[in-house]
Amino acid sequence: VRLFLDTADREALQRWLSTGLFHGVTTNPTILDRSGLRSTIGDIAPLISEILDYDVPEVQAQCWGTETEALVESGLALAALDPRLVVKVPITEKGIRAVSVLHKHGVRTTLTAVYAAHQALTAAAAGADYVAPYFGRIGDSGQDAPGILRTMQQILVASGRSTRLLVASLRRADDLALLASMGCDTFTFSPAVAEQLFSESLTIDAAAVFERTAAGL
Ligand code: E4P
Repeated sequence: VRLFLDTADREALQRWLSTGLFHGVTTNPTILDRSGLRSTIGDIAPLISEILDYDVPEVQAQCWGTETEALVESGLALAALDPRLVVKVPITEKGIRAVSVLHKHGVRTTLTAVYAAHQALTAAAAGADYVAPYFGRIGDSGQDAPGILRTMQQILVASGRSTRLLVASLRRADDLALLASMGCDTFTFSPAVAEQLFSESLTIDAAAVFERTAAGL
């Protein structure tokens, strides 16, 4: 299993990475913007360095630009920051072209903003390390998100490639359990979802009873 924290919020990083639960962190331009950061190496480099200080195996940052050349250039600049960096690229035609160039340079990639089952096939064919479907947003669009994710899983298994499904846009801890029971093992979620993982009231009550009993109360 690989869990990623989907945030650039320094306080949240401190709180959750110190649990040892996370394989890494994922970001994108929207997430950076929420923390007052721009998609520039100047803004991203210090954040990446802070994240890696928590000793996580991977950190994912998204390249930027409207043309393939710009996506490649920003992707290479990100990858040069640290070997543990995985470059996220939107799964557009230009993005796929950028991924094939990045691979020639030995850069690991995640194809992101994935909504349709057939995009899992494209991502596997492109040799991406991860493919990131937006589970919550697929549901928002009125589609059967668990069904689409199940099909993506089957496509990746059948592809024989090592591309992993990195499920994103998760809003509920229960969705994680459902998807994990279907065979998904790699997720990225916000600090709000991380909070839900520790809000099981019966567990909190049971632990409180242990504490009181152990203290002789
Ligand atoms: C992933 O790259 C996205 O940041 C994220 O998972 C989207 O989540 P949202 O649909 O809840 O905004």
